[in-house]
Amino acid sequence: MRKTVIAGNWKMNMTPSATRTFMETLAPMVKGKDKCDIVLCVPFVDIATAVEATRGTNIKIGAQNVHFEPKGAYTGEISAEMLKEVGAEYVIVGHSERRTYFGETDTTVNLRTKAALAAGLTVILCVGEVKEQRLSGITDEVVTMQTKLALADISAEELKRVIIAYEPVWAIGTGLTATPEQADETCGVIRRALAGLYGEEVAEATTIQYGGSMNDKNAAQLLSKTNVDGGLIGGASLKPDAFTAIVDAANA
Ligand code: PGA
Repeated sequence: MRKTVIAGNWKMNMTPSATRTFMETLAPMVKGKDKCDIVLCVPFVDIATAVEATRGTNIKIGAQNVHFEPKGAYTGEISAEMLKEVGAEYVIVGHSERRTYFGETDTTVNLRTKAALAAGLTVILCVGEVKEQRLSGITDEVVTMQTKLALADISAEELKRVIIAYEPVWAIGTGLTATPEQADETCGVIRRALAGLYGEEVAEATTIQYGGSMNDKNAAQLLSKTNVDGGLIGGASLKPDAFTAIVDAANA
């Protein structure tokens, strides 16, 4: 009953021309594989090309960040309305790279989430613990706190357009993957946090992805877990073959 969502996060990779080639290659490979939603979150300058190249396919396009103000003197920033108009349907908010390298806080994550939802975008909201937090046994507290702070003042109705991505920071880009059991357990902790905020029914209906070195080899096992409703995929989303294999795992 929950939607499985396989989303790629290209990060700072691919030019517009490379984007066109990639989408034209990928589209026939994932055609008809409709047991999951397929999303690619691309750099801002690639969005228009990606939207055009995937028109009429089952691939949807997202951005990787959004500013929380509708407009104004925010040099270098992009608003939710701009993303909407260029054809993005999704946006990643609160990725750990933004939290670590660009000073993103739980407060700005909440503001960005609200702005994106108000504009009609679907948010892929990232939470996850760093290695020291897992080693000290406070993973559950960390992801619960991040989830609750990110969702402050967001209604159950709006939550229908929120996907949570559980991304242990120690697993991102490192080749170290959480075990399927760890992923299932922590996605379950997030689901309980959602139940506390919105009730059991809403929590059960919310898509919670795992992210962090998910690839064509480990996707099937991770996706087989009850609480894992998809993946947010970095490195492996840059290769049509690997990304398609993950989509296949979600369609098995
Ligand atoms: P990775 O990245 O798959 O390359 O580990 C995941 C992410 O950062 O979303």
